[in-house]
Amino acid sequence: MPSVYIKTYGCQMNVRDSEAVAAQLLARGYTLATSEDQADIVLLNTCSVRDHAEQTALNKMRSLAADLRRTGREVILGFLGCMAQSRGEELLQQLPAVDLVLGTQKLHRTADYLDELLRGVRTKVVDTRPEPGSESAIREHLAAADGSAPVTAYVSIMQGCNQHCTFCIVPQTRGPERSRPISDIVAECRQLAARGVKEIMLLGQIVTSYGRRPGLNGRPGWLGAGEAWPQPQTVSGSELSPFVRLLEAVHTIDGIERIRFTAPHPKGYGDDLIHAYGRLPKLVESAHVPVQSGSNRILKLMRRGYTRERFLEIIRKLRAVQPGIGLSTDIIVGFPGETEEDFQQTLALCQEVEFDQVFLFKYSPRRNTPAASMPDALPPTVIEERHARAAELINAIARRRYAAMVGKTVQILVEGPSKKNPHRMMGRTRCNKIVVFEGSPRHRGQLMDVRIVRAGSYTLYGDPAIVGLVPEEPPLPGADKRDKVSHPVVL
Ligand code: 5AD
Repeated sequence: MPSVYIKTYGCQMNVRDSEAVAAQLLARGYTLATSEDQADIVLLNTCSVRDHAEQTALNKMRSLAADLRRTGREVILGFLGCMAQSRGEELLQQLPAVDLVLGTQKLHRTADYLDELLRGVRTKVVDTRPEPGSESAIREHLAAADGSAPVTAYVSIMQGCNQHCTFCIVPQTRGPERSRPISDIVAECRQLAARGVKEIMLLGQIVTSYGRRPGLNGRPGWLGAGEAWPQPQTVSGSELSPFVRLLEAVHTIDGIERIRFTAPHPKGYGDDLIHAYGRLPKLVESAHVPVQSGSNRILKLMRRGYTRERFLEIIRKLRAVQPGIGLSTDIIVGFPGETEEDFQQTLALCQEVEFDQVFLFKYSPRRNTPAASMPDALPPTVIEERHARAAELINAIARRRYAAMVGKTVQILVEGPSKKNPHRMMGRTRCNKIVVFEGSPRHRGQLMDVRIVRAGSYTLYGDPAIVGLVPEEPPLPGADKRDKVSHPVVL
């Protein structure tokens, strides 16, 4: 059978989509190539969030097409995902060597279309049409290369976003919000747990809006067909949002030790979610809260739906519930009309919050977004310069926060060999910091305590020998969390 190489650009949702496509192709008898040079089919799963990501994929495709012209090899070339969705047919005109363009709601049809292309039933395929129910089609998982289950599994809970921030192309590429039923998601997580998965990362473009839109027939978006209409549920005076109900449901699954999620929106950090950090021990002490800007004027122009003050209140409440919580954020510099004063407010917010990690982006105009036609676009030199200044501050704060971990003992979940040095192992703290240590493959999938001996750039170095503990039985997550509360070493 033909072999396929899939290259992924962009976010975790794309990583997950590529995995599901690969699993689907394997089930159809295709094999997975380890490099593009050996593949009969090369698929680029694309990202549109910034122009740079689009250009990288376009250049890659150009160079693949040029190689094929030179060598005369016959290879099927395809674009999948967000750029395929937003550019569609136009990609074929730009790059005639491309055979397949599949949008974000059509990924589960990849095998069918490849079969048709291979059999010569069709010579080109472009399909970017919406498909009801496609949010439930991303469910298949791959085993690791050695056949074992991954330690962490990504689970797609919803597709799309209705937020329409003025800078963002995602509502165009991913469509409106559509959620999978809780029962489906839980069934998938249970299967993963049965295969040995320890950590679940719940994924969607705006997970905190999970289930808020009605599903089919006006029923709650998170209710499976035929399931009884649910009663409202209240905890500590807050009515639980569908997202927190989902967290609770996943929390009940034996074998799952940790739960993470991304990407959220600050408006989704209601009291119900904030309290969940205090009462659901498997929900790790880590929150991504994408602020984008520290200036109320710019937040309004971005149509973010919160103020700087509300954002800071969320951070305060999260830290009140979990003082050691790891906090990350996204920031865009150089939004149209951003003044030095606005930018200073972003820097001041970073100083005030002290994030553990900031994903810092230069504003990139996206087609058919309101911000792209706003006046007062900033010159690239100003954007570059602000980016450099912000990066310096953010890195200095992170360095301090990482250095403060030295000497502390933290629990990590061991994921596998370190990417930079495969002779070492790496794990993640509950607060989402990477820890590299001298371990062995048998540690993979274990929760273990390590003592932090050194801090590098966004990496901690740990020594399990000092604590000497590789627990025979992984501790119960509840017990484990209580331990963490009693020792002031939460990372
Ligand atoms: N320009 C720059 N950054 C962007 N992001 C989204 N759209 C743009 C854009 N047009 C960033 C936001 C978002 C992250 C995923 O990408 O910070 O949170």
